[in-house]
Amino acid sequence: MVFATSFVSAALMFASVHALPQPEGHALTKRNNAVTTCNPGSYYSTAMVCVVCPAGSTCDGTSGTAQPCTSGYYQPNKNSTSCLPSPAGYYTNQAGSTQATACSPGSYEPGRNSTACIGTPAGFYTNQRGSAAAIPCPAGSYQSNKNSTSCTAAQAGYYTNAGAIQAVACSPGSYQPSTNSPSCLLAPAGYYTNKKAATATTACSPGSYQPNKNSTACLVTPAGSYTNLKGSAQATRCPAGSYQPNKGSTSCISTNTGYFTNTTGSTSAVACPPGHYTSSNGSPTATPCPPGTYQPYSAQNFCYGAPSGRFQSMAGQAGVCGTCCGWAAPLVNNNINPVNCTGGKPNAYPSSGDGCISTAVSCVHTKTCVQSANGTCPAATFT
Ligand SMILES: *[C@@H]1O[C@H](CO)[C@@H](O)[C@H](O)[C@H]1NC(C)=O
Ligand SMILES: *[C@@H]1O[C@H](CO)[C@@H](O)[C@H](O)[C@H]1NC(C)=O
Ligand SMILES: *[C@@H]1O[C@H](CO)[C@@H](O)[C@H](O)[C@H]1NC(C)=O
Ligand SMILES: *[C@@H]1O[C@H](CO)[C@@H](O)[C@H](O)[C@H]1NC(C)=O
Ligand SMILES: *[C@@H]1O[C@H](CO)[C@@H](O)[C@H](O)[C@H]1NC(C)=O
Ligand SMILES: *[C@@H]1O[C@H](CO)[C@@H](O)[C@H](O)[C@H]1NC(C)=O
Ligand SMILES: *[C@@H]1O[C@H](CO)[C@@H](O)[C@H](O)[C@H]1NC(C)=O
Repeated sequence: MVFATSFVSAALMFASVHALPQPEGHALTKRNNAVTTCNPGSYYSTAMVCVVCPAGSTCDGTSGTAQPCTSGYYQPNKNSTSCLPSPAGYYTNQAGSTQATACSPGSYEPGRNSTACIGTPAGFYTNQRGSAAAIPCPAGSYQSNKNSTSCTAAQAGYYTNAGAIQAVACSPGSYQPSTNSPSCLLAPAGYYTNKKAATATTACSPGSYQPNKNSTACLVTPAGSYTNLKGSAQATRCPAGSYQPNKGSTSCISTNTGYFTNTTGSTSAVACPPGHYTSSNGSPTATPCPPGTYQPYSAQNFCYGAPSGRFQSMAGQAGVCGTCCGWAAPLVNNNINPVNCTGGKPNAYPSSGDGCISTAVSCVHTKTCVQSANGTCPAATFT
């Protein structure tokens, strides 16, 4: 044993001597003042016999012990001269390891020769063993905890971008009916949402509307228009023949007789002017009184016939004409044209009161009287 001990020292001392290394099982002996060593991959035992290096260790052939692989390294095979670094996604946390250990789900390791794995940060996960990288939670999901093996789907009314720590509520004007969503939907025209985290839209009520997307409220339908449906994107202008003085209306008001509206979007009915009338509700125009009739007042639903002995040759007039200067009108109602009396009263006319009374020398016969409200011809219309 004394020899053996001193021989160990000699072996180390003469390791640099280029003697042929010896295989395992070979007893080391002094030879020609040189000392053989064991093969790389072996160490020598206390009995000075080469022993193959065990798995988990390295041996360079010149040592009396096997060197265990340090933490972060491993060696699965016997007879080795070096250790292997644990690969990305794996670790070894003790000396003498024969294999690397895979990082568990919820952790990862990007580097080699690691002694531990890294827990996934919030917003990330790993769901497989041996992960080299943490995976960001996909858009639509999130993870607020570390060391996670999965992500949590965003609730309805919420969304997330990739790698989210928490879900984000949809802002007013938008909504999301589904879970696991990467974005919110904009409330379409005619609809709105007025709270955060809305899962559905609300339709604009009749009497209101909204032309834009992404809205938090509806607009009140203005006077002159109406909306009669839920979810309207536009207000509708009241058609001609109707009107609406109030805002927020669901319908228009048909004009009464004597009134009309001739444009869309009217806020009030227009009274028929003198000389015009409407005889039915909902009129888009005022009807001119036809020739032979007249109407001196506004907002009327009929015209007066020209009274006996007077006439009205034009449409849309407020008054009737009297005759003058040699002209007459028959003694019946609704006369349109006067009759020329010059040269004698026509036989067709009654013997008296027929109007052929004026023969003023100064009259210009080509002129007939123009209308006046009460049938008196204005002085300026004839001489
Ligand atoms: C050990 O490795 C050496 C070469 O590296 C080889 O010659 C020897 O046969 C090996 N021994 C065993 C037991 O595998
Ligand atoms: C092992 O780790 C050390 C320190 O962390 C580093 O410097 C070295 O490059 C690593 N070696 C390998 C092979 O990864
Ligand atoms: C997460 O895992 C790492 C290692 O994977 C561990 O060191 C750490 O304590 C864990 N953290 C929590 C909060 O569980
Ligand atoms: C929706 O409206 C909000 C404010 O109300 C605004 O911040 C956002 O950019 C709008 N989104 C779109 C897509 O217009
Ligand atoms: C509508 O009626 C108004 C008032 O009576 C009139 O001035 C206007 O010319 C009319 N417009 C049309 C298009 O008929
Ligand atoms: C009216 O009758 C007279 C006689 O017949 C005639 O001379 C005159 O031209 C007539 N006037 C008009 C406006 O027709
Ligand atoms: C008829 O109208 C004229 C002016 O248009 C007026 O001077 C006259 O007094 C009226 N006559 C009657 C009977 O109303």
